[in-house]
Amino acid sequence: MLHGGFGTRLRPLTHTGPKQLIRVAGKPVSQWALEDLRDAGIHEVAVVLGELGPERVVEYYGDGSRLGLKLTYIYQGYPYGLAHAVYTAKDFVGDEPFVVYLGDNVLTEGIGEYVRRFEESGADAMVLLAKVPNPQRFGVAKFDEKGRLVGLVEKPKLPPSDYALVGIYFFRPPHIFRAIETLKPSWRGELEITDAIQKLIDWGLRVEYAIVRGWWKDTGTPKDILEANRLLLDYKYPGTIIKGMVEDDARIEGRVYVDEGAVIRSGSVVRGPAYIGRNTIIGSNTYVGPYTSIGYNCRLVNVEIENSVIMDNVTLEDIGERITGSLIGSNVRIRRRNTRPKGIRFIIGEHAVIEW
Ligand code: DAU
Repeated sequence: MLHGGFGTRLRPLTHTGPKQLIRVAGKPVSQWALEDLRDAGIHEVAVVLGELGPERVVEYYGDGSRLGLKLTYIYQGYPYGLAHAVYTAKDFVGDEPFVVYLGDNVLTEGIGEYVRRFEESGADAMVLLAKVPNPQRFGVAKFDEKGRLVGLVEKPKLPPSDYALVGIYFFRPPHIFRAIETLKPSWRGELEITDAIQKLIDWGLRVEYAIVRGWWKDTGTPKDILEANRLLLDYKYPGTIIKGMVEDDARIEGRVYVDEGAVIRSGSVVRGPAYIGRNTIIGSNTYVGPYTSIGYNCRLVNVEIENSVIMDNVTLEDIGERITGSLIGSNVRIRRRNTRPKGIRFIIGEHAVIEW
């Protein structure tokens, strides 16, 4: 599983840690990926780490036993590209077929079906594709008139189809490593996994594809994080789970997950789907609306919020406007003092303090 990269498009949220650790719908994005691997029967996973807070990843996942996994950490360092990252795991995978899962990709339906399909196929590689409205942002598949996969292009200006490469790849050694050895850096200066798979096609090897069922999201931007949050809250939590405390006269409506140590105080309303993190306090006169995930150790008092992702140790007090479509980083404190500005949208990094 790839856990490196720069996280540039998510700054400032990624100034102190990798984007894959941003908690969405109660779990870091990469944990959803690791659980997908585990649920597909893959228990030995190498986590490829980058330069941005690799120790945070090791600290959080440890040896993986908490998730039912055996984890090995590989340090990639500078992000020279996905193919480079995959190559760092060459000795780890040995001769076994393997899956590459980008730690910032989210899939609602899991990968079990594709793992089985790849194992049975005997193919050299398999890619997953999803139809998207903006293929220019991704690797894109090219088909011939019989619907056979004949090419893959990384972020093309003129996309040959609407089918994007999902960040989950299946390989059977040794050809993929041979292909990576022949690569030259692309226009963006990276060794592209897309180009390595193109080599396999050019060499006449068997590269298959499957179109993903359900939703797929690459969480590269704040907008993507909010969308992934909506999808995960919708698909991964079938009912209400209350591990914390809900006081009398507090209202819980719809599917709400109240995690350990969280308190929903009298006079507040939480309308799901929503996740309230560990030791967070939802104070009186507060409304948490649909599609909101609140992190650990937060405090909300006299606030209305919906469709937002709030990270850890955040305080929101007396805001006076409904917060919506917002992504708020750790240790942020927002408190209203007197004036009444309207239509504020927050995308704020760690340790910010805003008062007005
Ligand atoms: O999400 C799907 C897309 O992922 C595919 O459609 C593209 O073909 C593929 O190139 C990739 O594109 P991105 O531009 O979105 O990749 P990004 O640089 O965001 O990196 C994807 C993940 O891999 C991210 O979690 C960071 C990690 N990474 C990235 C690089 C370049 C590494 O661990 N090491 C690296 O060297």
